Amino acid sequence: MTIKREAKRIVVTGGAGQICYNLLFRIANGDLLGKDQPIHLNILELPSALEALKGVVMELHDSNFPLLDEVKATSDLDEAYEGVDIALLVGAKPRGPGMERKDLLSENGKIFVDMGKAINKGGSKKTLVLVVGNPCNTNCLVTMHHAFNIPRENFFAMTKLDENRAAFQLAKKAGVHHSNVSDMIIWGNHSSTMVPDFTLAKIEGNPVLDVISDRSWLENDFVEMIQGRGAQIIKARGKSSAASASAAIIDTIHDLLFSEKELFSAAVSSNGNSYGIEEGLIFSFPIFREKEKGVRIQDNFLLDAFIEKKIRLTEKELLEERDAVKELLRGA
Ligand code: NAD
Ligand code: LMR
Repeated sequence: MTIKREAKRIVVTGGAGQICYNLLFRIANGDLLGKDQPIHLNILELPSALEALKGVVMELHDSNFPLLDEVKATSDLDEAYEGVDIALLVGAKPRGPGMERKDLLSENGKIFVDMGKAINKGGSKKTLVLVVGNPCNTNCLVTMHHAFNIPRENFFAMTKLDENRAAFQLAKKAGVHHSNVSDMIIWGNHSSTMVPDFTLAKIEGNPVLDVISDRSWLENDFVEMIQGRGAQIIKARGKSSAASASAAIIDTIHDLLFSEKELFSAAVSSNGNSYGIEEGLIFSFPIFREKEKGVRIQDNFLLDAFIEKKIRLTEKELLEERDAVKELLRGA
């Protein structure tokens, strides 16, 4: 007789939205935690979207996923977060054409006060929180402030989608498959000031600058393409990225739970960083996981002068965003 593992409780917010129409099915299929890990899905939505969510739950049931033991759909935050192992905070308004992600701050920021409070109540010291709803860095900061019982190291905002986009474009330019690109680090904010660091990245183990000699393309076309990719998708689709965002959520949780020493990008608390970035921000850094010690920032890379200048700009933007939500931060 095989003994079944204890189920993990995964909270996903924004369950009736476009990212979740892909993400929930991938989680239920075992893509997030593996094919031997039973899942309890708690899906949070606004009361106005519960009817639509009912249809999504019907489809989850109709898919007969072997690992999906329980599905709960609710608009009650306490009910959703009770006993949460992993919280995927997707639920928030997306931007439309011509908007910057930070334009969403006034509407979306306050959502994350309630999320933080509910995670604080229903979570544990082991609860992992990934914020996706935009602007995700600052929304994550708001969440972390209100979930003060949960260790700071457990909070992440997603910049993996930017890393994936950048890796693909470097590979395309070099004429190799994207699986050959590593160490493709995004610094700073998930916004148009993000810094895709082509100086640290490698192609087939070699520095990108040894493979792609056109530094002007890297500094201009490449950086701008990655910074503006989300907007380009909105322009083409009329809606923001969804399936690729879902793929990046899966990748991020894999990196956080299962990777071994490889570098990846995620926005984390800037406290104690070795790059002189102001403390009290959620900032994307080079991150790695060690089996025994967990997830940490990779310290002390020597920064290229061009990249460092750009990093200061993205830091400035995050300071401005923090200032804009100061009344939402605990103790303000
Ligand atoms: P969507 O509008 O299709 O879905 C959002 C859902 O969230 C809606 O169903 C809405 O009812 C729900 N919602 C809103 N407020 C909520 C709350 N307080 N509690 C629970 N649910 C709530 O949007 P989407 O395309 O799924 O995108 C969701 C968010 O993710 C947006 O903010 C978008 O900009 C962001 N996003 C981030 C990344 C990233 O890389 N970090 C990538 C793609 C999208
Ligand atoms: C993205 O990068 O695709 C998302 O953050 C959505 C957006 O607003 O660009």
